[in-house]
Amino acid sequence: MASITIKDMTVSYNKGKTLVLDNLSLKVEDGEFCVFLGPSGCGKTTAMHCIAGLLKPQGGEIYFGDKLVTAPRKGVFEQPQERNIAMVFQEYALYPHMTVRQNMSFALETMKTPKDEIARRVEAMADMLAITPLLDRRPAQLSGGQRQRVALGRAMVRDANVFMLDEPLGNLDAKLREQVRYELKKIQRKLGITTVYVTHDQTEAMTMADHIVLMNGGHIVQEGTPSDLYDHPVNLFAAIFLGTPKINQFDCVVTKKNGAWFFEHEYFTLPVPQDMVECVKPYEGKVIILGIRPSDLVLVEGSGEGCITGVVDGVEPLGEAYLVYLKVGEQVIVFKYNGEQDSFSGQLNLRPNAAKIHLFDKDTENRINA
Ligand SMILES: Nc1ncnc2c1ncn2[C@@H]1O[C@H](COP(=O)(O)OP(=O)(O)OP(=O)(O)O)[C@@H](O)[C@H]1O
Ligand SMILES: [Mg+2]
Repeated sequence: MASITIKDMTVSYNKGKTLVLDNLSLKVEDGEFCVFLGPSGCGKTTAMHCIAGLLKPQGGEIYFGDKLVTAPRKGVFEQPQERNIAMVFQEYALYPHMTVRQNMSFALETMKTPKDEIARRVEAMADMLAITPLLDRRPAQLSGGQRQRVALGRAMVRDANVFMLDEPLGNLDAKLREQVRYELKKIQRKLGITTVYVTHDQTEAMTMADHIVLMNGGHIVQEGTPSDLYDHPVNLFAAIFLGTPKINQFDCVVTKKNGAWFFEHEYFTLPVPQDMVECVKPYEGKVIILGIRPSDLVLVEGSGEGCITGVVDGVEPLGEAYLVYLKVGEQVIVFKYNGEQDSFSGQLNLRPNAAKIHLFDKDTENRINA
């Protein structure tokens, strides 16, 4: 087992013209489930390939525990096979001429693991991933989702220092994805193995991660636990990237009337919660972005100050709740309702949960409130 430390890692192409990772520094603790999260092209796979030794960065250092494994400026570069990493690639490559069982046994055989031990481990892993009936088939005889589970099984059956999984659930249907997500997390916890998991899916990150590294354009935007990022997004990008449906945003002017502070929107006025007054003072007369998540709105009787009034534009039943789409002026906002009411029409009055309001600077889009 090992922690992974990255210091000032830089990757670029076209002789430095295309900067893909810009001075990336982070630490994945020993035994931790760390998720690299971010939109397509932000550098997740690149960062993972550098850790695995499949790619040499131009600058920076990577340590496994205390051991330096990559340091281009010091001429240090440990080969991938020496790093003892079990990987599942984004384009998972199974050995086409081998059966599922042979695919899963291969790494253990090359490590000279006893035959009965291999059989035991492969069968236990196949059972966990629900691929036992497929053990004697070849990859060409499997569906995409089945192949993906075989690729996972092949990686996880090994005794590796680190697991690296690049979008490993992309090909699974929704139900299977949930199940494999749960199993994967359970296996990881049981083995206590340091894991780096790459995804652009915020639900996977929220449900599985001990530590999320949110990336954008080759930079780290924010790191922390899922609730750190969800409850205290450092900027509008983080606020939008985590949470589904996405956070509602309102442009509001910060105003002061008779000593009291307000967020003044074109269609509503909300009092500034007491604990946010200090941080909005510098914004008096200026526009800020007020963010409120769909589940942080409460349906209330009566309109007036402190309420956002909208006209129902559409309703999506989720079974355990409803997503109600409302028009506030031209803007459509979403409200997640999980009370008793089962039909919605006309005007609704919503009160934001004051403790769950997120404020962002209109220009920098950085968080304003604590
Ligand atoms: N060989 C290359 N030459 C030039 N640019 C490259 C090369 N390989 C990757 N890139 C660029 O580096 C950036 C990061 O790529 P990377 O594969 O790490 O993204 P990602 O975050 O894994 O995205 P996705 O979610 O789509 O898999 C992209 O903009 C990509 O176009
Ligand atoms: Mg990728």
